[in-house]
Amino acid sequence: MRITDTADLWWKTAVVYCLDVETFLDWNGDGVGDLPGLAQRIDYLEELGVTCIWLMPFYPTPDRDDGYDITDFYGVDPRLGTHGDLVEAIRTARDRGIRVIVDLVVNHTSDQHPWFISARSGKNSPHRDWYTWVDQPPKDLKLEPVFPDAETSAWEYDRKTKQYYLHRFYKYQPDLNVTNPQVRDEIAKVMGFWLSLGISGFRVDAVPFLLETIGERPGALPDPHEYLRSLRQFLGRRTGDGILLGEVNLPHDQQQLFFGGGSGSGSGSGGKGRGKGGSGTAGDELTMQFDFIAMQNLYLSLARQDAGPLAKALTERPDIPPDAQWATFVRNHDELTLDKLSDEERQEVFAAFGPDPKMQVYGRGLVRRLPPMLDGDPRRVRMVYSLLFSLPGTPVLFYGEEIGMGENLEQTSRSAVRTAMQWTDGKNGGFSTAEPEDLAAPVVTGGFSPDHVNVAAQRNDPDSLLNFIRLLTTRYRACPELGWGRFEIVQQPHSQVLAHRLTWDDASLVGLHNLGPDAVSVPFTLADTDSDCELVDLLQTGTTRPGKKGEAEMQVDGYGYRWLRVTRPGDRRLR
Ligand code: NOJ
Repeated sequence: MRITDTADLWWKTAVVYCLDVETFLDWNGDGVGDLPGLAQRIDYLEELGVTCIWLMPFYPTPDRDDGYDITDFYGVDPRLGTHGDLVEAIRTARDRGIRVIVDLVVNHTSDQHPWFISARSGKNSPHRDWYTWVDQPPKDLKLEPVFPDAETSAWEYDRKTKQYYLHRFYKYQPDLNVTNPQVRDEIAKVMGFWLSLGISGFRVDAVPFLLETIGERPGALPDPHEYLRSLRQFLGRRTGDGILLGEVNLPHDQQQLFFGGGSGSGSGSGGKGRGKGGSGTAGDELTMQFDFIAMQNLYLSLARQDAGPLAKALTERPDIPPDAQWATFVRNHDELTLDKLSDEERQEVFAAFGPDPKMQVYGRGLVRRLPPMLDGDPRRVRMVYSLLFSLPGTPVLFYGEEIGMGENLEQTSRSAVRTAMQWTDGKNGGFSTAEPEDLAAPVVTGGFSPDHVNVAAQRNDPDSLLNFIRLLTTRYRACPELGWGRFEIVQQPHSQVLAHRLTWDDASLVGLHNLGPDAVSVPFTLADTDSDCELVDLLQTGTTRPGKKGEAEMQVDGYGYRWLRVTRPGDRRLR
């Protein structure tokens, strides 16, 4: 195991924490979370073991799409603070060993952005071509709107200039035209600006839409991946180790293309064997991508209490370039999308975790957080996070997951999971001193309210979920084979158990996760071990010796989990 590599390619073993400044902590008492509030909680994130904060959009916005509708790519929303406040938060995070990445949302702007106001003022506007206009929406082009509850078409008619503009998301989010070189220059300038303030890269919004790789359209880039490569090169020139973490919700084989130029040489090969392919070099586009396929199959597995779907999704993951990485997650700020499951599979998950129509959205997703979906069963919740941190990849947490926050189904659609962070059992969950009606986002009520779920209580309780997640982040960081290693399924007889193993050189970990309610005894064989080896339990005390041929049998509780480090005589890793 080359531990020093983990410092160079920091993203391969990072613990990423996504938060929205607006809902995290309000420091000036106006009801809106702010950057000074975030700065106050950097130490909390350090304590939790976070190594990279992903800041959701904090730019000036009419806020019709939770800040993803931006009016100034270079600005900070004055409700959240100033550029100075942002830099202070970034510097404080850096001091605690935490990097910051920010959302890069350049598929579209708000329709209130000065560029679009100019573009729609007339066909001769200097910004007209910064967006995509047509006289008639092309009939043969299947450009479905992403939000079918709100939009019936991806084209909106502009009465004044008598043309339609393209918007893949809401009609108030016109798509930028990246075939225009001025737009491409501007996007690079935006990236350069934020990088100069000390961030470590970007979570790139809606990558296939930005590149228009979904659905051909007139004037699309001749080679969209060439453009993505150029952005990565630019990032590389401006920072040595900045990353692009892309949102690409596509089947695995299509995702592979967004890592760049070829099939790579297999994950975990530690920097060797950079394969060539396509017109670029493997690994020269996105540094990381969310694994939406594994996430969706995780829920199918949980619903069925059958590890099969998740095991299949992980096994069928394509090889990715050695420096690239999958970002694994249980929840994000959007609907918990199940769009890549079959209709029947999706219905199974709906039936298990969101049978009420108000828990569902867009016909494809759920607006719930994990603990309420699992009826608050602490064993099951912990098992899922144990699984998340033991999967091959880099785990990404959405704020509040570490304390088991629930959703607020009184809120419309995706807002249900975008409630205020719950710090204490005091007023507004300690999020803000403002009056409840002035809060940027409401506080959860009921069984998952701050009275029952909050940071302060859990920090002081050694048995809390918060402290369990802290244990997981610590163990994850101490097991870089989880981020770098070769993945394999360990054969054993129980369909409800996922037994998997990650190995990176001399470092190897076996994970056992029981998705079912009954305790099981799991027999398995690790052929490369013998009775001189030990299986050291990393989540509880205990050590087991395999037999002469590597055979072992471990007890796993109902909804239980075990992390077993494979050690050999002379192993010098700390236990
Ligand atoms: C993807 C973001 O995750 C989502 O929240 C947003 O609504 C769309 N992009 C449009 O920006």
